[in-house]
Amino acid sequence: MSDILLTAQLVECYRDVFADSPWNEWLKCPKCQKYFGRDDSGFLASQKFRHCDVSLIDFWPREQVLSDLYYEITEKTSCWIAMDKSKIVGFSWGYPIFLADLEEKLGISFSNNLQIKKDTLLAYQDEAGVLSEYRGQKIAKAMVAHRLDDFITQGIEVGIVRTRQSPEPSITFLWYTEKLGYKILATYPGDDGRVILGRELDGLKASLSF
Ligand SMILES: CC(C)(COP(=O)(O)OP(=O)(O)OC[C@H]1O[C@@H](n2cnc3c(N)ncnc32)[C@H](O)[C@@H]1OP(=O)(O)O)[C@@H](O)C(=O)NCCC(=O)NCCS
Ligand SMILES: [Zn+2]
Repeated sequence: MSDILLTAQLVECYRDVFADSPWNEWLKCPKCQKYFGRDDSGFLASQKFRHCDVSLIDFWPREQVLSDLYYEITEKTSCWIAMDKSKIVGFSWGYPIFLADLEEKLGISFSNNLQIKKDTLLAYQDEAGVLSEYRGQKIAKAMVAHRLDDFITQGIEVGIVRTRQSPEPSITFLWYTEKLGYKILATYPGDDGRVILGRELDGLKASLSF
């Protein structure tokens, strides 16, 4: 498959993953910013896909996803996709980044609990997603294991991920804290609900074995 087709498919897969539960980022009202998932399509159809007297718009416009992908996926990125025949059904990527740069990117300081210098290269485990009809088949686990191999090959020792703890803990929060031994390094203030998790990559491979 050509790079262009593959990229276009990755954009669609990304939009599909986040359009479903639990994120429900499918369509939004440009006036009040309320957003809806694909599960709401019956209700939305009854409203003629309008809210606040205007038509709903894509939560994740293709051009925005595309520019995010070009920004996040460079030659340093470890990017894995899962395919069913010629269809992309999942993705996972992450990249090495200096601690100080990652704190700036994420807008939160988390290194107080890490005994490492600001110029240490960390593995930022950025995105992971699997189409809802393919979830629960260890597809994410396989991609995350490949991504880990890439980080270890690059000599990176600590992995960081941002995920959601409340109001409902996300699957990644439960997976990383309960099965993979990640610890909470920082919590976003107020009722944001997101947290920064981290752990040493050494020994992690055993938890990702099948
Ligand atoms: C998170 C996500 C990528 C997992 O993909 P998946 O292929 O279904 O995951 P796997 O089958 O590989 O399972 C990996 C681990 O997640 C946990 N897990 C998966 N589904 C779960 C569920 N429904 N409830 C609780 N834990 C679950 C398990 O611990 C599992 O590990 P184990 O098999 O060793 O027990 C998928 O649910 C998804 O795309 N969700 C929406 C997007 C998202 O939230 N991405 C992460 C934030 S960017
Ligand atoms: Zn509205």
